[in-house]
Formats: sequence, C-alpha cells, structure tokens
Amino acid sequence: MIYRSWMRNQGFGPDVFDGRPVIGIASTWSELAPCNAHLDRVADAVKRGVWQAGGFPLVFPVMATGETLLRPTAMFYRNLLALQAEELIRANPLDGVVLLSGCDKTTPGLLMGAASVDLPAIMVTGGPMLSGKFRGQDVGSGTHVWKFEEELKAGRMTQAEAFEAEGCMARSNGHCMTMGTASTMACVAEALGMQLPGSATWPAVDMRRYETAQEAGRRIVTMVEEDLRPSAIMTRAAFENAIRANAAIGGSTNAIIHLLAIAGRLGVELSLDDFDELARPVPTVVDLMPSGRFLMEDFCYAGGLPVVLRDLAEEGLLDGDALTVTGRSMGANVASAQCWNREVIRPMSEPLQPAGSGTAVLRGNLAPGGAVVKQSAASPGLLQHTGRAVVFDTPEAYHAVCDDPDLDIAADDVIVIRGSGPRGYPGMPEVSNVPIPTKLLQAGVTDMVRVCDGRMSGTGYGTVVLHVTPESAIGGPLALVRTGDTVTLDVPARTITLDVDDDELARRREAWKPAEAVHGSGYGWLYTQHVLQADQGADFDFLVGSRGAAVPRESH
Ligand code: FES
Ligand code: MG
Repeated sequence: MIYRSWMRNQGFGPDVFDGRPVIGIASTWSELAPCNAHLDRVADAVKRGVWQAGGFPLVFPVMATGETLLRPTAMFYRNLLALQAEELIRANPLDGVVLLSGCDKTTPGLLMGAASVDLPAIMVTGGPMLSGKFRGQDVGSGTHVWKFEEELKAGRMTQAEAFEAEGCMARSNGHCMTMGTASTMACVAEALGMQLPGSATWPAVDMRRYETAQEAGRRIVTMVEEDLRPSAIMTRAAFENAIRANAAIGGSTNAIIHLLAIAGRLGVELSLDDFDELARPVPTVVDLMPSGRFLMEDFCYAGGLPVVLRDLAEEGLLDGDALTVTGRSMGANVASAQCWNREVIRPMSEPLQPAGSGTAVLRGNLAPGGAVVKQSAASPGLLQHTGRAVVFDTPEAYHAVCDDPDLDIAADDVIVIRGSGPRGYPGMPEVSNVPIPTKLLQAGVTDMVRVCDGRMSGTGYGTVVLHVTPESAIGGPLALVRTGDTVTLDVPARTITLDVDDDELARRREAWKPAEAVHGSGYGWLYTQHVLQADQGADFDFLVGSRGAAVPRESH
C-alpha cells in the first residue's frame, strides 16, 4: 500500500498497479543544458508510446551535463551522471528504462549507467538543431563560433552583427548540428543498436523525432516482455560496428574515450588499438562540418545513418548479425535504407577521405599507454615531423604568453601542453588544440604540431596529438619533457617519440614531483582519487563492470 498510495497522489487510478511493466524515462532535461532543454517534450512522446503498449511510464531527472556552461569541463561530470543514472535505475522499482540524452556527455553517461544495471533499455537522443543560416550561408555550431569570434576580434564584424550571427547559429532546440561529439555519440548509440534506426539524425524539432520517441516508448514495453537487455545488444560486434561507423561519419575523437568506458561497464574486451585497426579499412563518407561542408539536417534528408551502415555492410565492414533494440539484427534494420543525396553521403568508392586517414593511435616513449591524432583534421605536411619541444605545464601558462611578440618559438617547433589529463586538470578538458602563437599566425603559419594529455572538441582541428597516456600529472613521460628536447611524430609509423635516452629520463623521473592536489575534499577529491586514464575510458575505477539490477534490501 505504501508504494501505491503515494503514487496515487499524482492522479493515477488503482488499475495501473496491475503488474504492467513500469517504465522509467531517464531525462537529462535542463535549462542549464540548452541542447537538452526540449527533452520534456520528447519525454511526453515516449510516455504516449508506453501507455499505448500497456506500460506505466514515469519520468525522472538525471543530471544534465551541458558542454557550454559547466566548469571546469562537462567531462568532469560524465561519471557522476553515469553513477546517478545507474543508482536511480536500480533503486526505483522499474522494469525497463528509456534514456533521453542530447549534449555530448549525456549520451555516453546514460549508456554507462544503464549498462551497469542491465535492465532492458532503449535510447532516444534529442536530435540536432536545424542548420544555422546566416546571410544566405550555412553556419555550424562550434565550427563557426570560433570563426565569428576571430572576425569580431579582427574588426571585420561589428558587435551587432555578431549578436545576429550567434542567434542564427542556434535557431531551434537541439544539440550541435555539426559532426561534433553530440552528433557523433547519437550516431554511435544507433550503430551500437541502442536506438531505433534513423533516430540519430532527425532534427530536434522534426515531427519524426517525436514519432520515433513514441515508437521507442512502445518498443521498451515489448523489450521488457522479451527481456532484451543492454548486455545482449552491446556486444563486441556492436562496438566494432560503432567504431567503423564513427570512422565513416568522420566522428569525434571523444567517441574513443566514451566507447572504452561503456565497454568497460559491460566487460567487453576493447582496447585503444582496436580503434586504429578496425577503422583502417573504412573511408570517411559523410561530408559534414568540421571536416566537410554539410550539417546534420542535410545528413538526415540524405537518408541518415542507416545508409552509412548499409553501405558499410555491402563492403563487408559491418557485422549484420548484431542484435538491436528493434529485436532484429542490424543488417535487417538497414537493408532497405535509401540514399537521397550522394553529395552528403558519398559512395564508398568516392569518399571524402580515403580509408586509413581517420583517427590514428600512436605509441612510443612519449606515450607508452597510447595517444591519438585525428588525421582528417591535421595538416598532411605535419604528419611526419621532427621539432624542438616548447613546453608549458598548463594550458593557462601557454595562453599567458601566446600573444607575446618576443616568445621564443618557431613554426617547426612542437608545442607541448601538459597538466590537462583526467587527473591533472582535473577532468580532461578540450584544451589541446591551443591557438598558434600570434606572431607566427601573423607570419602566415596556420598549423603546428601540438602534443597534450587533454582532449579536443569534436569541432576542432589541427595537427594535435591528444589523450597522451599516462598523463603528466601521474608522472607519465610527458611530465619529463623539457624545452629544447626533440620530439618526432610519425603518423604513418604510428609513433610519437621523445629523443632523450632512458638514463636521462630516469634521472629526470627521480627529480620529478607531482603538483599539489587541487581538491582535498568533495566530488573533486573523489574524481582525482578514482579516475582512470584515457586508454581505459577515464571512468572511475570503482564503477567499471556491471552490478546488475538486484537490490539487496527493501525500504520498508
Ligand atoms: Fe551541447 Fe554542442 S554544446 S551538443
Ligand atoms: Mg563538444
């Protein structure tokens, strides 16, 4: 009676407590996460579907992490979101759950939490914003923000024009509509089999997003009857499909960290090297900003991700047998996909970028645990490069001097930024693609090799070696580099090398002292004590694995 009586204060009649499946709708709605601010309406559509199929839907909030407002970085909170989702899904008397996400970290965070509980789950991402349109031009979130800011600084744009442009770039609900991390993770969720076919690309304000959400509501009720759980869907085959799909769409490097973390929750063996090996035969075919010309709305109208997955299958690059939330295989889901625009989704035979030019995984004495470089965002002439290291302990230390006309730096130097890893910053922010020193910019230099233990935005570019592991804060070799050392990047050979011998490195290690901890208490303390390195997905060590749905004791 205690369960029923209190729930009836919301106006539910006694009949809904007849044993029908109780479906939680985990919503990362928040006005502080603008990319997710319409999820309350998506939740309404899901609810309709759940009622239609004979379930009992109940919406509950899960921490919303928005990229634009959260400090020091939304990534600092992804694991907290995942922890909260896991505990709420388990602790409440639910039979299945619908996961509503949007902005970058909300998609992986919910998948991580749901994977650790392993109750039937289906994802509905909130969809991208409509294409930005400014003075007759398509403008993309992220990509054009940087451009407009430069124009404003250079005096080529007035403040009034900038206000107009920023509004035109964000003219509907939804997440970033470039192929940044949010769009990447929405596509990855679909390629994993966790959301309905076509879901990733419907614009946030498109009626079909709400139809799909309603369909997901109906489907979760049946999934509960079928006992179809995340562990049956997110298998090794599903991760391989997601990695290849990510290569084909030219997705964000952040997907690597998130997929490693999700796999860790499920006990699926996945390593950093898998990303290089599996992606090598895959060309980039989706022509979206930041690497290409179009935006998510165009991708949607061209047929969306099912076309890419079908094309991959035809090349033998998709495991068509992987099971999905539809209850059918991935191959069956996408078999009849049709492409309506081969400029946006190129044929595999005429790709945007050839196979092997995607994100590469590097190793060497500077990154024994691995590092990554997004080749499509790099300058071809810098992919094999040797230069003098110019070292900064923090990104702030670099920013403080990068406008200095007397800065001792040349175009073929290698900028090394440390202190930006999961533990060191903390939170592994998107700071790695620091701007080129102003004096070199003015001399016409557009790119330089940069090496960092942080991340880069999915909309960023440059020859930037990211995710260097182990990070400098725990004494990785990055901590031992000195200005004047020589660093060699050789992407074809997949190496990043510091030309300093082992004895000298050992001497420097003896003298190295870790920086003082930023957080002595609170969540920051928990984070820095337990966060894993990038090659393990930067999850918390105590959250790896699945803990199931069982609750050991009752509350009354
Ligand atoms: Fe939320 Fe880009 S800021 S998706
Ligand atoms: Mg981003």
